[in-house]
Amino acid sequence: MIRVAIILGSTRPGRNGEAVAKWVHQHAQQRTDAQFELVDIQDFNLPLLDEPVPPSMGQYSKPHTKAWADKIASFDAYVFVTPEYNHGTSGALKNALDFLYAEWNNKAAGFVSYGSAGGARAVEQLRLVMAELQIATVRSQVMFSLFTDFENMSQFKPADYHQKSLSTMLDQLIAWGGALKNVRQG
Ligand SMILES: Cc1cc2nc3c(=O)[nH]c(=O)nc-3n(C[C@H](O)[C@H](O)[C@H](O)COP(=O)(O)O)c2cc1C
Repeated sequence: MIRVAIILGSTRPGRNGEAVAKWVHQHAQQRTDAQFELVDIQDFNLPLLDEPVPPSMGQYSKPHTKAWADKIASFDAYVFVTPEYNHGTSGALKNALDFLYAEWNNKAAGFVSYGSAGGARAVEQLRLVMAELQIATVRSQVMFSLFTDFENMSQFKPADYHQKSLSTMLDQLIAWGGALKNVRQG
């Protein structure tokens, strides 16, 4: 069975992302075709990228980088839960992505986003970043509206139809995650 990380990409106090990531985790855990773990970027206390050598060289020097690398290396696929900040993803998530390289390569990813336009613009940007990290991104995604899936833009009350979107996205992610595991094993 492949291992899937649900990566909580927001670190803001009072973040909506926590409820969204917990919802994803709760529904994903009902499946029996993969193992799911919630990974909160905040727990790793990553500073702004402070590695002297580019991560693609694989010479990590800091304990926080090594801890983050060990965690990310342990998964076959990722669900990125991303807010939309100024039409992009969060600085925290971009920074966490930039910290590593090989650990991301030949893995699969899907997206769950939220914002006034469902976080769509953040995900479009992330897909370009994923290409450079050699992460294959699945087509289906889950997009929550700040206006209709949150009460007062802060209480997460998702419409039921999102469960179907999540299920479709995870079907695609688990298929590609398994296929790429074979690629990595040569
Ligand atoms: C710095 C900042 C920039 C934002 N820019 C956008 C934006 O461009 N588009 C959008 O739909 N929402 C934007 N928002 C609203 C966020 O999508 C909303 O606050 C969301 O809850 C943020 O995720 P978080 O609560 O997990 O941090 C912005 C919020 C912040 C804090």
